[in-house]
Amino acid sequence: MPEEEPVRKEVLALPLATRVVGGVDREHPADSVLRVVLKEEAGLRRETAGEVARFVFGYFRWRGFVGRGLPLPRQIESAADLARRYALDPDSVAPQGWDRAVPAWVRDRVAGGAEWWKALQKEPQLWLRARPGTAEAVKLALGEVIQPLPELAPDALVYQGPKDLFREPGFQAGTYEIQDLASQMVGQLCAPRPGETWWDACAGEGGKTLHLADLMGNRGVVWATDRAGWRLHRLRVRAGRANLFNIRWAEWEGGESRPGKTMFDGVLVDAPCSGLGTWQRNPHARWTMQPEDVTELSALQIGLLKNAAAGVKVGGRIVFSVCTLTHEETVKVSDAFEAAMPGFEPLPLPDTHRRGPGAKSESRAKNRLWIWPQDWGGNGMYVAAWTRRK
Ligand SMILES: C[S@@+](CC[C@H](N)C(=O)[O-])C[C@H]1O[C@@H](n2cnc3c(N)ncnc32)[C@H](O)[C@@H]1O
Repeated sequence: MPEEEPVRKEVLALPLATRVVGGVDREHPADSVLRVVLKEEAGLRRETAGEVARFVFGYFRWRGFVGRGLPLPRQIESAADLARRYALDPDSVAPQGWDRAVPAWVRDRVAGGAEWWKALQKEPQLWLRARPGTAEAVKLALGEVIQPLPELAPDALVYQGPKDLFREPGFQAGTYEIQDLASQMVGQLCAPRPGETWWDACAGEGGKTLHLADLMGNRGVVWATDRAGWRLHRLRVRAGRANLFNIRWAEWEGGESRPGKTMFDGVLVDAPCSGLGTWQRNPHARWTMQPEDVTELSALQIGLLKNAAAGVKVGGRIVFSVCTLTHEETVKVSDAFEAAMPGFEPLPLPDTHRRGPGAKSESRAKNRLWIWPQDWGGNGMYVAAWTRRK
C-alpha cells in the first residue's frame, strides 16, 4: 500500500504573517514570535511556513519604504513586492534614496552611507564553518555549497539549498558549525597558536570559543566565560559534539576577577552590542533598538574591556569585537581603552581583511578594522587589537 501523505492544513500565509508582525516588539523579536505562531499552527505545509517567514522578514527589511498609513496586510504585501523587485534589479526600487533602510537616529551614528543601507536590503547568506580539513567533505555531503573566499577563508562556506542543516548527520557529527563569515574573521584575526592559553570573556554559546579551540588544534586552553550560565551550558553541548577538549568554562559577571590562575596569551572580548551589523539577518531589530541602548552598551563595553585586559600577560594580546558599527561602540570604546590603559599598544591587524573604500578611510589606525556587509557578504563587525608591553 502506498504511504499516506500526512494531512497538511491549507492556510494562507498573509494572515499568519500579519499575526506575527503584530506581535513583534522590543521583548519579542520576529524570529521567536514566528516560531510560536508556526508551532500553534501545527500541520502547516512547509512551503506555507516558508512563505510566512519571507513575508515577515521582508516586511521588517522594507518597512521604511512602505506607506505606513496602509492596513498592515497591505504594508506586508507592498514590502514583499519591493523585495521581489530588488532581487531582480536593485536599482529599480528606492528612487527616494536608500536611507529609509534604517531609522533616522542611525544615519549620523554610522559611517556606512548609501552602500551600507543598500546592502542591508539583501537577503542574508547562510554561512557555515567547516571544521579543519573537512571543507571538501562538507561540500560533497550537503551539495549546493559554494566557497566564496578559498584563499582568505577556505573553511567559510555558503549553503544555498533547502535542507534544515541542524538536522543533517554532518552537523550532529560536528563536521561543521553554522557561523557567519564576519564571526569567523574574528577568530582568524585572534590567530591563537596551539598550546597557548586564551580567555574568551563574553563567550555566549561559544561560536568563537569553538573556532579558537579549533585554530589551536585542540591543544592549549580556551577559558570561556559569560554572565549567562544557560549560554555556557549550550557551549558545553556544542564542544562535546565537536570533540573539543581544550575548553574550560566559568561564569563571569564582567568584574575584576578572571577565570583560572594564570595570565593569558590572548583575551577576546566579543562584547554585548547594539547588533547593527546583523540588521540584514535581523531586520526587525532596526525598529526596536534605541539610541539610549547604544550609549549604555558603549559604557558597558569599555568596562568589560578594561577589566578583561587585567588578565593579559606581558607580550600577550587583547582583541575587542562587536557585531555593530556605531561610532560610540567602535571608535569611542577604542579611544577610551587607549586613554585608560597606557600599558597597551595598538596591534596592527592584517590588510587582507580590509575591503572597500569606506573600510579603508576609517582604518587609518592599523589596529582597527571595520567589516561591512557589503565588503564580503557576511555580517558587519568591528575588531580592534592591542598588545601588553608592561
Ligand atoms: C555578542 S554576545 C557573544 C557571542 C559569542 N561570543 C559567540 O561568538 O557566539 C555577548 C555576550 O556577552 C554576555 N554578557 C553581557 N553582559 C555581560 C557582562 N556584564 N559580563 C559578562 N558577559 C556579559 C552576553 O550574555 C552574551 O552572551
